[in-house]
Amino acid sequence: MRRPIIAGNWKMNNTIAETRKLINELKPLVKDAKCDVVICTPFTSLAAAIEETKGTNIKVGAQNVHWAEKGAFTGEISAKMLLELGVEYVIIGHSERRQYFGETDQSVNARVKAALAASLKVILCIGETLDEREKGLIEEVLVRQTTEALKGIDKAQLEDIIIAYEPVWAIGTGKTATSKDANDSIKIVRDTVAKLYDEEAAQKIRIQYGGSMNPSNASELMAMPEIDGGLIGGASLKAEDFAKVVNY
Ligand code: 13P
Repeated sequence: MRRPIIAGNWKMNNTIAETRKLINELKPLVKDAKCDVVICTPFTSLAAAIEETKGTNIKVGAQNVHWAEKGAFTGEISAKMLLELGVEYVIIGHSERRQYFGETDQSVNARVKAALAASLKVILCIGETLDEREKGLIEEVLVRQTTEALKGIDKAQLEDIIIAYEPVWAIGTGKTATSKDANDSIKIVRDTVAKLYDEEAAQKIRIQYGGSMNPSNASELMAMPEIDGGLIGGASLKAEDFAKVVNY
C-alpha cells in the first residue's frame, strides 16, 4: 500500500509573517492526517516554516534547487543550503519553471540528481500542455518527461522521488482533469516507471495529481487507484481549504 501524500505548493506567496500565521492555523486542522503532509514555501519562508512545524506532522519543502554544489550561479540555491536549513522536500520541474524560466528535461534531470545526492526528497513535476493534449500527445509527453527526468537514477533512489502529474491546462484555471483522465495519465507514468525499472518500483512509487485540486474534488480524485496524493496550489493558501484536502 502506498501512503498518500498531500503537498501544498505555495508558489510566490506568503511573507515570513504570513507563513507563521498560516502554519499556526493549519497545525491543529491537520494534526490527525492519515497521509504525509508537506508545504513548499518560498525560499525566504523556509526557516520560519521549519521552526513553526517542529514537532508536528507537517514537513517542509522548497520549490526549486540548483544542480551544482556551489559556484557562480547568481540567484540560485544549492541542495546543501536547503539541507542545512532542515528542508526535507523539493519540487523540481514545475510547469511554471519550464514555461517561464527555461527549465528543460535535461536541467530537471540535473536538479533531481543533485537533490537526491544531498538526500532531499524530490517532488518531480510532469504534465502535458493543452496544445499537446489536443494533438493527442499525452502519452508521448509523459513518457519523455518521465524517462528524461529519471536518467541515471537507480532503483534504490526512486524511494526518495514522488512524481506529480500536473496537466498544465488544469493549473490555476479551475479546470480539473476528470478523475478518470487523471487516473489514466498517471497509469501511463506508472507503466513508464515499470519499463524503466521494474513492476516492483512502479507499484512502490507515489504519483500525485495536481491542477485545481480543492476541497470539493479531492475525495473523488483520491479514490482513484493510481492517484496517491495531490500537489495543491491555490487551495493550499487557505488553512481550512488545505486541511479539507489533507483530510479528504
Ligand atoms: P492549482 O492548484 O492552483 O491549480 O496549482 C496546481 C499546481 O501547480 C501545484 O503545483
